[in-house]
Amino acid sequence: MADRVTEAVILVGGAGTRLRPLTLSTPKPLLPVGGVPILAHQLAQARAAGIEHVVLATAYRAEVFGAYLGDWDGMRVDHRFEPEPLGTAGAVRHAAAALPGDGESLLVVNGDILTALDLRGFADAHSAAGADVSLQLIEVPDPKQFGCVSVDDTGRVQAFVEKPADEDYGGKYVNGAMYAFRRDLVAAIPGDRPVSTEREVFPRLLARGAHLRGHVCTEYWSDLGRPESLVRASADTVLGVMRSPVSGVAGQFRLMPGAVAAGVRLSGGTVIGEDARVEPGASVEASIVRAGAHVGSGTQIRDSIVGVGASIGANCVLDGVVVGDNASVGAGNELRQGLRVWQDAVLADGAVRFAERLD
Ligand code: GDD
Ligand code: MG
Repeated sequence: MADRVTEAVILVGGAGTRLRPLTLSTPKPLLPVGGVPILAHQLAQARAAGIEHVVLATAYRAEVFGAYLGDWDGMRVDHRFEPEPLGTAGAVRHAAAALPGDGESLLVVNGDILTALDLRGFADAHSAAGADVSLQLIEVPDPKQFGCVSVDDTGRVQAFVEKPADEDYGGKYVNGAMYAFRRDLVAAIPGDRPVSTEREVFPRLLARGAHLRGHVCTEYWSDLGRPESLVRASADTVLGVMRSPVSGVAGQFRLMPGAVAAGVRLSGGTVIGEDARVEPGASVEASIVRAGAHVGSGTQIRDSIVGVGASIGANCVLDGVVVGDNASVGAGNELRQGLRVWQDAVLADGAVRFAERLD
């Protein structure tokens, strides 16, 4: 019988800079998607796929991952802390040393992706092929912001270029950031300095002829590294476009326990967080309103994230914006186009208007 993959490392140590101010208080893997932390989706998927032991590679805000450690319905979850971040490969080597070491290969997942890929199918295909590394590959319209991967007709990886600067880069697939990795290759990653999987390990393995196998994924996949992709993935999860064992029943919106939103138009996969309150006459479309937030009457919110405990006054417009935790946006503000209100910031009533709309 082919070797079976039963162990995994999840990388959760990044600072989530592109998601600030949300990640100032909550590390990216614990931000909610469809009302459920990204990490909870990933752990539930790992368990459903028969993974028996997971190690979280922690660095930034490691202490808040404590709630996820221990027993997950028979799957063991430990963590390994890096006092100084070791890079994506250094983190895998460091964390893998805390696994029992069952089987030839282990699963490695970035803690900021959401995918409906069949993990067991992925791991078994890796074992059956006898590859050194298998990589989940995705076709996306804007490959250059990811790791770009070219494969030959048999699916064998020919080249890996992380975020190519070359304007004309023509690769078709990007790295979905889910790998099955032979354990001896992980153990060979240098331990005395930060090492990047994407910029160092993959190019080096390819240069010496290692077998990197592309596993094309046509299932749902999203990188959650930017507010617009996080809010989209959350909406997709509520709408049932993305499914995981903890994604819940599909619908236009989801009210978390204690949320109040009577007389409010909720649509497009919106989530209203625990104990949040949205006043009558507001509308919230394809957005995340986090726990304990308050939204005033007549306010219209679309494609936006309202942070924990934040307060939005009456008759505001929020379109494609992020409001940080505990910020206070006064009545009649019009916030658009990628604007980010920092956590704890206070905007007076009518402080921000959109020029084209002034009359
Ligand atoms: N423990 C630990 N230590 N974790 C880390 C470290 C570290 O030093 N550096 C990054 N991470 C974690 C982050 O928390 C995140 O979950 C993951 O590793 C990837 O880091 P990002 O900074 O989010 O990388 P990226 O999104 O720019 O690019 C990566 O993901 C893309 C797909 O989403 C690359 O793997 C690309 O090739 C890939 O296409
Ligand atoms: Mg990322």
